[in-house]
Order: sequence, then structure tokens, then C-alpha cells
Amino acid sequence: MAGTAKINIGGKDLDLPILKGTLGPDVVDIRKFYAETDAFTYDPGFTSTASCESKITFIDGDKGVLLHRGYPIEQLAEQSTFLEVCYLLLHGELPSAAAYATFEHTITNHTMLHDQFDRFFQGFRRDAHPMAIMVGAVGALSAFYHDSTDINSPEQRMISAHRMIAKMPTIAARAFKYSRGQPFVYPRNELSFAENFLQMCFSVPAEDWKPNPVLTRAMDRIFILHADHEQNASTSTVRVAGSSGANPFACIAAGIACLWGPAHGGANEECLNMLLEIGSVDKIPEFVQGVKDRRYRLMGFGHRVYKNYDPRAKVMQTTCHEVLKELGHSDDPALKVAMELERIALSDDYFVSRKLYPNVDFYSGITLRALGFPAEMFTVLFALARTVGWIAQWKEMIEDPAFKISRPRQLYTGSPSRDYVPVDKRG
Ligand code: CMC
Repeated sequence: MAGTAKINIGGKDLDLPILKGTLGPDVVDIRKFYAETDAFTYDPGFTSTASCESKITFIDGDKGVLLHRGYPIEQLAEQSTFLEVCYLLLHGELPSAAAYATFEHTITNHTMLHDQFDRFFQGFRRDAHPMAIMVGAVGALSAFYHDSTDINSPEQRMISAHRMIAKMPTIAARAFKYSRGQPFVYPRNELSFAENFLQMCFSVPAEDWKPNPVLTRAMDRIFILHADHEQNASTSTVRVAGSSGANPFACIAAGIACLWGPAHGGANEECLNMLLEIGSVDKIPEFVQGVKDRRYRLMGFGHRVYKNYDPRAKVMQTTCHEVLKELGHSDDPALKVAMELERIALSDDYFVSRKLYPNVDFYSGITLRALGFPAEMFTVLFALARTVGWIAQWKEMIEDPAFKISRPRQLYTGSPSRDYVPVDKRG
């Protein structure tokens, strides 16, 4: 504890403990506030509220720092693999070689879906948004894997974590194949996590499919960049859903639903659409004027926490250039528009004064499109990668002895109490 904060409310003095984390701002502990003052605190959008204690991810938004279990995202993106980051997020430490081999084997051997599950996809229209399929299909996992829904069993919690990390790529690839009218492709155990996902999306029975190491590495890095991000909207949704004791598959489905929105995971799809709509560099000034006139937002810019360059955006920008170079698309008009838009926004007072910098979604759409994904798949890929963060945060919450059901209160501004009026007496 780091001292107390004093508050005087209704003539009564109250000392509130101040908690100190390893890093980051101090936190005023208001847990006894209502009991002792008969008042609530008010913080819509949670801009000043720490909703939980966590040891998983740290963000310093002013400095543009993102750490997973203490390790900077740039180092993980450069030197680690997505599966190793999954282990780190779930277990708190980087694995030994033996622990990694066991983990990789476990994930690889859980990638198949129950055969009955494949029929589930047929119920959707072919033009269904793949995120709609993801919300439904992931929720349905709890109807197939009853033996890992007991949240009070540590073994079952870990099995559900492994199942979701392993099966999410298979479900995501099926959602993609279904929309294309192509046959589902089964996972291959000899391939790496990212290779396997790409082959489930892009191979067809009529041809051999060969992995491209540059594109595989880019896919893996994109997964690393999206693996976790502290208490964002979808992660908070997973925690709130889980706080009622709901099973982990249902909680992750809730997270996917939240992620879908354009202010969150849906921004990468919106951002690419925006870049394509602008079309050429000469249209940028007119577009920027529209942003300043508040007719629309510059998608892929701004962040609730980062008031500096999002460190993930820098890695994504490098990855974008690598992928486009490898594919011979370096003159992609969308990339040109993005680079010029970024240049203008970083020097324009509207964006500078509001500390609006590119976020992870700014370059991800161009990269994913070059990899062969249509825009509606972008948020699906985000969900695939974020699943490990969601499940690690869910596990941490369940394993925290202080965990309670999430039940916020409100500032009620509706009608005071009044008597019911029968319909024939209403004016
Ligand atoms: N374009 C133009 N103006 C913006 C933007 C933007 N992208 N973002 C914020 N602003 C302005 C906003 O109009 C406001 O100006 P003023 O103070 O004059 O009214 C000011 O900046 C603060 O905005 P806010 O809406 O209060 O900020 P927030 O923290 O509530 O919103 C955000 C954060 C991410 C929702 C917002 O920046 C946004 O809508 N960005 C575009 C969507 C996007 O790229 N989302 C992806 C986020 S990163 C990945 C993820 O988390 O999923």
C-alpha cells in the first residue's frame, strides 16, 4: 500500500487506501466507498477505473509501451513465436525447451473439430459475415466439449484453454472456406501453427499448397501482436461474463461479439475500406477535412490508452512492407494512401493536439489483404489471436481468491416512483 487518499463526502472524512502496482499509476481502493458513504463513484467508459488486479499485460499509453508478463511486444514479435507467447500468457513464464515441445504437441493435437461440428456451418447462409459464424460456432463449442466446462476444476480450465487456442484456427478457416464455397481443409500436424492456419484457408484439393516462410512469419507475428491487450472492451466482456460462473466457451463467444464492433476489432476492416474508398493520394486532403468536420473518424487512428504511437502499429508497418515486397505489391495504392495519410495526420494540429497516432489496425488491413484475406475476415483473425489473451485473463480471474460477480451500479436519472395508471385513465 502507498498511503491513503482523503475524501470528504457529506461532511464525513474517509481515508481510502492507495494501492501500488509493479508499474503504472497508483490505484485508489474504493471497495468500501459505498458501504461507508452511501454514495457511488461515476465512471462511464471506465476511463479512470481499474476493474481488476492482473499480472498478464502492462501498457504505458503515454510512452507507447506494451509488455506481456514483462517482455516488450517488440522483442516477442521479433524473437518469439505465437505459440510461445500463448504459453507465456497462460503460465506467466517463457517455457523451457521441453515444456514448449509438450505445449506445441498438445495444441497441435487438439486442432480437429468434432465431426458433427462441421455440419453446424451448413446452417449459416453462404454470405453470412464470418464474425457472425464465429460468435455462433464458438458458443457452440460448449455443446460439444462438456468435459471441459467445469470452471472449478483446474485441469478442465487448462483443457478448455488448450482446446480454444487449438480449435479457433480450424473454426476461423472453416468460416472462410464456407463463404468461398470451397471444401473444408483439415489441419496438418506436421505444420507450424501459422502454416497450418494458412493451409486450412488457402489450400484446395486440386493443387499442392506450399508454405511461404515470409508470409508464414508475417501471419505468426500478426497473431503475436493481437494476443492480449490488458482490460480492453472484449477482455472486460469475457471477465464480466465469466464472473457469473459461465463456461469458458460461452465467455469467449461473448468476447468475440464485443470485438466485432468498429470501435474495437472491427476497425481493421473499416480501416481498409476507408483506404480503398479514398483510393488515391490526391483525395486525402478532402478526406482529412471530413474528419476535422467530424463527419467521420480516421479509422486505425486513436486509442483509449495509447496517447503515443501504438508499439504494435510500428511492428505491423514493418511486417506490411515485408509482405508487400515478398508478393511484389510494394506499389499497392492502399499502402501509398496509408503512408501519406499517416504523414499528414502526424503533422496536422487536429491529430497532434488530440494525440491521435496510428493504432495496430492501421496497417493490418493492407497486410491481411495482401496475404489473401477478404476484409470481412480481418476481425476473425483478431479473434483467433486474442483468444489466448481472453482465456488467460479468464483463468486469472477464476483463480483469484478475491473474485466476485461483476455488478456495477448506476446514476439513475429516470422517473421517480409513481403509481400505475389504468389505460382508460391515461390522458
Ligand atoms: N479520428 C478522428 N478523431 C478522433 C479519432 C479518430 N480516429 N479518435 C478520437 N478522435 C477525437 C474525438 O473526436 C475526440 O475529439 P474532441 O475531444 O474534440 O471531441 C478526441 O479525439 C477523443 O476521442 P474519444 O472518442 O473521446 O476517445 P476514446 O478514447 O473514447 O476512443 C477510440 C478511442 C479507439 C474508440 C477512437 O480513437 C476511435 O474511434 N478510433 C477509430 C477506431 C479504431 O481505429 N479503433 C481501433 C482501436 S485499436 C484496436 C482495438 O482496440 O481493437
